[in-house]
Amino acid sequence: MLSVEDVTVGRSGLTIVRGVSLRVDAASVTVLLGANGAGKTTLLEGLSGAIPVSSGVIRLDGRPIEKLRAWRRARAGLAHVEQNRTVFREMSVLDNLRAACRRGDTPDRVFELFPELVKQIDAPAGLLSGGEQQMLVVGRALLGRPKALLIDEMSLGLAPIVVARLAAAVRALADGGVGVLLVEQFAALALDIADRAYVLARGEVVHSGDGRRLRADEDLLRALYLGGTPSETGV
Ligand SMILES: Nc1ncnc2c1ncn2[C@@H]1O[C@H](COP(=O)(O)OP(=O)(O)OP(=O)(O)O)[C@@H](O)[C@H]1O
Ligand SMILES: [Mg+2]
Repeated sequence: MLSVEDVTVGRSGLTIVRGVSLRVDAASVTVLLGANGAGKTTLLEGLSGAIPVSSGVIRLDGRPIEKLRAWRRARAGLAHVEQNRTVFREMSVLDNLRAACRRGDTPDRVFELFPELVKQIDAPAGLLSGGEQQMLVVGRALLGRPKALLIDEMSLGLAPIVVARLAAAVRALADGGVGVLLVEQFAALALDIADRAYVLARGEVVHSGDGRRLRADEDLLRALYLGGTPSETGV
């Protein structure tokens, strides 16, 4: 459904992401792993249009979108929860969500996925716990009714139990039909909910395969994380 073919993305004149191809199916979770600086955020920003791609094709439901502006990609059904995205702290939970609603739409879907937010509906978002704020951030992205959802570092700074809760919600979203591309520091936890996994090292895909199989192969995972190339790790 989201297909990425040979995409290269640069920053400040440097090539950061090199010829990446990957696929995110509808109703699935695809996890993108990689060490700090591997290029995960740069890739996601290139996919959503936050920064331009230098070459390659990005298709959403078969339609090339790499030349569209970011808001048009969002309109076409591609949502992006950016790394370090925050809530509007002074605004209530409800107003944060209303601001992201399409005309005539309600935020009910978000409260179904995250009932935790219901009792906080009138609270200023800045007073929510870190986990609840992240639920709100993910919730806002859902209100555009995305087909594909890119999530960059959902769990940064959160307690493991909260991360597990968010992971379960992401899995539920995928089971409801959304194709999720998840970048996550907690590799094991992300792989637990993953259908497919890719590992990026120095801007290149060095591994792709079944998420649960990679979860079970700690040696391979460690080797890939250390930035190994396919030949070094025998993949
Ligand atoms: N604005 C920028 N200008 C130039 N280079 C950048 C910029 N932002 C990031 N980089 C470089 O691009 C490379 C990839 O960074 P990126 O943030 O995409 O990696 P990442 O995999 O998301 O890392 P992390 O796990 O730390 O979030 C790094 O070498 C980084 O130093
Ligand atoms: Mg990043």
